Amino acid sequence: MKIVITIGGSIIIKDHDYKKFRDYAEVLRNINEENEIFVVVGGGTTARDYIGIARSLGVSEAMCDDIGIEVTRLNAKLLIAALGDYAYPVVPHNFREAMQFASSNRIVVMGGTEPAHSTDAVGSILAEFVGAELLINATSVDGLYNKDPNKYPDAKMFTEVKPSKMMELMSTKDIKAGTYEFFDMTAIQIIKRSGIKTVILNGGDPNNIKTAITGKIGTIILQE
Ligand code: UTP
Repeated sequence: MKIVITIGGSIIIKDHDYKKFRDYAEVLRNINEENEIFVVVGGGTTARDYIGIARSLGVSEAMCDDIGIEVTRLNAKLLIAALGDYAYPVVPHNFREAMQFASSNRIVVMGGTEPAHSTDAVGSILAEFVGAELLINATSVDGLYNKDPNKYPDAKMFTEVKPSKMMELMSTKDIKAGTYEFFDMTAIQIIKRSGIKTVILNGGDPNNIKTAITGKIGTIILQE
């Protein structure tokens, strides 16, 4: 099966700990034995720190996004290092390069592409590009909630959700560099039009990704 896996920076670079990269690499190598996988890595707090500095310097939001993209690519490079020979050694900067690098039969790992969205959008566009059957979004919470579970203890998680409902939840969110919360609008629109099966799950334990391939976990985004 062709699978695109988006790993939030909030997961992989959270503690600046090499073990997270190592553990992810082990699970990804394992999944790769029976599947063709593409990985998109986020920027996490490191990206937000850099964006914060840039914003204080008074640069444009697009420039802040661009700095965030560089950080996501740096994180992608670390995952490539952890994967060793299993990964294509270069981080693609766009989807054409990702397709090209995939012909090596190695795992392609990328970060961001262009300003104004997050790596969630990159994952959904990549999934559409390569004709993935499954898109997995590994995040820092168990799935998609009706409100931020870190702020509201009464937040409820959806086991299934349609893109239109997600858009409703998104409508009040800010669109600024470093603040594309839980899922950005571009990602939802792409998932809606392509109908790719998408699962949002807790990436704290990389083994949850294996569970998503064979069983049920997190929030499943249904077709309209
Ligand atoms: P992330 O995808 O990590 O953003 O990219 P995020 O959703 O804010 O953070 P986590 O990782 O899920 O916690 C970091 C930042 O890089 C820029 C955006 O500013 C984003 O917030 N970015 C990333 C882009 O502008 N374009 C991209 O394709 C990717």
